[in-house]
Amino acid sequence: MMLDQQSVKIKDPIRTVENNESNWEYGSENHWLSEKQLKEFSGDKTIYDLYPDAALHSTGCSVIRSVLWHGIANRGWKTIWMPSYFIKEVIVVIQGIDIEIKFYHDNPLMTTPGLPTEKLTSEDVVFRMNYFGWRGAEAILSSQDIGCDIIEDHCHDFIGAWATQSQATYCLTTLRKLYPLPDGAILWSPQGEEVPEAPATTDSHLAAVQKKLSGMLLKQFYLNGCDVAKEEFRKGSLDGEDEIGGTNGVSGACELSKHLFSVLSITKLSKLRNENFETFKKLASPSVKKYLAWDTIPADSYIFSIVFLFDSESQRDLVKAYLIQNKVYPATFWDWPTEYALDDPEGKDFSDRMLSIHCDFRYNADDIQKMLSILERAIEGFK
Ligand SMILES: Cc1ncc(COP(=O)(O)O)c(C=O)c1O
Repeated sequence: MMLDQQSVKIKDPIRTVENNESNWEYGSENHWLSEKQLKEFSGDKTIYDLYPDAALHSTGCSVIRSVLWHGIANRGWKTIWMPSYFIKEVIVVIQGIDIEIKFYHDNPLMTTPGLPTEKLTSEDVVFRMNYFGWRGAEAILSSQDIGCDIIEDHCHDFIGAWATQSQATYCLTTLRKLYPLPDGAILWSPQGEEVPEAPATTDSHLAAVQKKLSGMLLKQFYLNGCDVAKEEFRKGSLDGEDEIGGTNGVSGACELSKHLFSVLSITKLSKLRNENFETFKKLASPSVKKYLAWDTIPADSYIFSIVFLFDSESQRDLVKAYLIQNKVYPATFWDWPTEYALDDPEGKDFSDRMLSIHCDFRYNADDIQKMLSILERAIEGFK
């Protein structure tokens, strides 16, 4: 059977079953957690325990602006080296800052992380990324090793071996993707360098948080079977996301997140992702597992999501469409930016064929099984 656009539209037996069960869905934006879950996820290490000297911001982009302004003014940075495989929205933010951007070859498939091949000086700063939490302690490098300052992005695993043992000048992560909270991001210096102060929280950021929070609460009501239209929670979430960080792009986090970061355990939340990944691998058939892009979690590390690499972009897009029709909302990232003329065909190919499915604290083995049975059907279409 070939899975084509038409069969995606009409061949949908599982959907009927799911639709009888309240408003179950899988993936996409976080919803607000119940009190019971909030209690369940407290009681072990918090982010404040792990990085007591970190500066708390609203978003990762707020952190990036702040650390670049600081490095340009105080550390002589003139050029930032960005990995070829990276999120364009962040590159656009950096383009608004007075620093030259150059790219070096690095992507998730490179088992030895890429680095600039040119000679680096104290006017350079290299930005490194731990894609999907696939890189462990072996990726650690210090400024002395490469000849200039290093900024590391640990958004995909901020408590794994690389992040906690880092020797970089600065490390950053957004927190709001892996916590059930509307905002939050941190900057810390493993080398004990001066960390620019956490910014004040702006009114414009708080207005965006209010929209995000209502989207999260409405999504929780929806998932619990209340009479809430999907467009309502989607709108709050999308409007909030557009405005988050505030009009000048730099802000502190809201009081609610500041408080809950001291309650929620990041170790518990992270362990659940690994457990769900292992559950997925146990339950998945060989025909699904053959599309896993990566199936090994580095020692003392935590993966971000379940990442697949399909045979072609069109196959990936068909699987994605089928999942969405069956209320499983995966992600593809990052779209390849053609305007930068990046010399990384392998990275572009990965971007074209990859699909990421969540496996975070929102889900248990039953959810994983349900999601998997839908994915199995999508993949069966190619046999
Ligand atoms: C790898 C990475 N770094 C930084 C950011 C920026 O974080 P924020 O969206 O909180 O500004 C993102 C956002 O998705 C990201 O994926």
